[in-house]
Amino acid sequence: MIRVVIMGCGGVGRQLIHHIMNTRTTLYVSRGIRIAVVGVCDSRSLILATGVPDGELSDGCLEKICHLKSSGSPLSEMNLIDGFVVYGDCDVITKLSDIAKSMGQSTGLTFVDCSASDETVDLLNRVLDIGCCVVLANKKPLTRNIDVYEKIASKWRHLRFESTGLILVRLLGWRINLEDIEVESLFPSEMGPESMSVEDFLCKGLPTLDETMEERFKIAASNGNVIRYVCTIGNSRCKVGLLEVPASSPLGQLKGSDNLEGWTGRVGYKILFIELEKFIEIYSRCYKTQPLVIQGAGAGNDTTAAGVLADIVDLKDLFHPLD
Ligand SMILES: NC(=O)c1ccc[n+]([C@@H]2O[C@H](COP(=O)([O-])OP(=O)(O)OC[C@H]3O[C@@H](n4cnc5c(N)ncnc54)[C@H](OP(=O)(O)O)[C@@H]3O)[C@@H](O)[C@H]2O)c1
Repeated sequence: MIRVVIMGCGGVGRQLIHHIMNTRTTLYVSRGIRIAVVGVCDSRSLILATGVPDGELSDGCLEKICHLKSSGSPLSEMNLIDGFVVYGDCDVITKLSDIAKSMGQSTGLTFVDCSASDETVDLLNRVLDIGCCVVLANKKPLTRNIDVYEKIASKWRHLRFESTGLILVRLLGWRINLEDIEVESLFPSEMGPESMSVEDFLCKGLPTLDETMEERFKIAASNGNVIRYVCTIGNSRCKVGLLEVPASSPLGQLKGSDNLEGWTGRVGYKILFIELEKFIEIYSRCYKTQPLVIQGAGAGNDTTAAGVLADIVDLKDLFHPLD
């Protein structure tokens, strides 16, 4: 049995709960895997099953949690029914640490970070040290400075993060930090959130950029190219910005919110991407002229939560199958 605590109950967290409930029978019948949700927390409160480690939140309770959070209410407003207790504010981290200590080395416990918070990393490191597992949808623990990344990533066997995509550059072995990435912003700093309201940005700011942008599109088109927002890694630099690419190239053919990544060569490689769908082109010694291509949906709550569930299942060998 894989016991999990889900941290964060927004779009991804709720979808993960649905996936867990909907795949229960299939996972058990086809692979002998049972996933028990022992706790769910949002930014302020923790709902914890009573009788942990044996207890778990019932599907009825999980449905109520999803319903409550979909309506915009905090978990602290859960109506008390049998089978769980609610911990608020300052008790949450203490309680999570306590159950990590009590279950980490006995039955095992997986912390699934579906929050968008950069405050979870200390707890995650602590629970990994105790012997728990961690699955991340949240990219922030992996994008903090390189020392923080290397500490958490050193627990490789107990850590999964299929759904976190942008840290690819670190997975390629680059010891870089966010500030080392050259970013070409799509708007000037005087249009940033500190200087302009969202309404002014949309109504007054953006139209002032149209002319310049249209000019770049026209110049690109006259060369048979299109403009894409691309991350390039190579020659000791990591850059994100607008790039002219041939309209007939895989990147050029992406539509709407498609997402493409690719890297080339043994020494130099580049990664190209735009949000949402994934298209990965891999050039290497063996794929010199014709790349290995991987393509498919890359994000959205459903796909992200499915990736998180796959990560949880992938940890199965670290748990006792029969308890
Ligand atoms: N959606 C996607 O397509 C996608 C793709 C890949 C990765 N991701 C990542 O997945 C994560 C979740 O995304 P989302 O769209 O579900 O975000 P979201 O809707 O904003 O939900 C975030 C949830 O995290 C909770 N939270 C905030 N701080 C917390 C803390 N310190 N401890 C525990 N919970 C905390 C929030 O609580 P409150 O409800 O109390 O505010 C909320 O329930 C993000 O890191 C995102 O970058 C998303």
